[in-house]
Amino acid sequence: MDYVLEVEDVRVEFGGIVAVDGAGFRLRPGQILALIGPNGAGKTSLLNVVSGFYRPKRGRVVFMGRDITRVPPHKRAAMGLARTFQHSELFKHMTVVENIMAGLEPWRRYSILDAALWTGRARDWEEWARWKAEQVIDLLELHRYRDSIVEGLPPGIQKRVDLARALAQDPKVVLMDEPMAGLSREEKEDLARAIVEVNETQGVSFVLVEHDLEVVMDLCDWVVAMESGRVISEGPPEKVARDPKVVEAYLGG
Ligand SMILES: Nc1ncnc2c1ncn2[C@@H]1O[C@H](COP(=O)(O)OP(=O)(O)O)[C@@H](O)[C@H]1O
Ligand SMILES: [Mg+2]
Repeated sequence: MDYVLEVEDVRVEFGGIVAVDGAGFRLRPGQILALIGPNGAGKTSLLNVVSGFYRPKRGRVVFMGRDITRVPPHKRAAMGLARTFQHSELFKHMTVVENIMAGLEPWRRYSILDAALWTGRARDWEEWARWKAEQVIDLLELHRYRDSIVEGLPPGIQKRVDLARALAQDPKVVLMDEPMAGLSREEKEDLARAIVEVNETQGVSFVLVEHDLEVVMDLCDWVVAMESGRVISEGPPEKVARDPKVVEAYLGG
């Protein structure tokens, strides 16, 4: 398969506003792709079409060769298309391990009655989910925080928990909207390292909406630059960063 994800000619409108105007991109297996562009360029809207939270007016999303444009978000997650959240929407009063397990709810196959009677099926899910959670806790080195309440953890750790929750779902592709926002320089480096490691060891592909061009240059294999809902430039990071259209869009924005 040449591409794990193909996003074609997407248009998103909000009332009279055209947020995305015929944009798209293609993601190769194992690639880390960055969506960049000034505020209001349509990056979040495009990502929300990919995750299924927005229904596009026009266009197509193809995941692993299958048209998923009309597939609801939770089913996309189950197919291997996971996402993290722009403003971390973790359950603040639950622990790290509980948050990761909560991300596995869609895989829960038993009824309320099973749970009430604590049947084998309920126990099996619980055991499996805990095992999956422990695997990603290992992978992202979150041992120290396993039983900590999420609220009160540093922002960089919360981002890592958010990533862990997505990874527990065994995704092929992870979508992240501005994962570095609000992080210190050191936290950014830690998160970038975690993303690279997951990419290299697990073969997971990433689409990152990212503002910080330095992060993009370090981390990404392919960059898609947007302005006013359209793709204005695309290619390897060094090339896109020097494209006069991109430079102008950033200075103007
Ligand atoms: N839910 C919404 N309702 C109305 N307008 C929106 C909504 N989301 C985004 N927009 C508008 O769509 C355009 C693109 O926004 P967005 O996708 O958030 O861009 P970016 O993530 O690149 O900053 C902007 O003009 C924004 O004001
Ligand atoms: Mg945005």
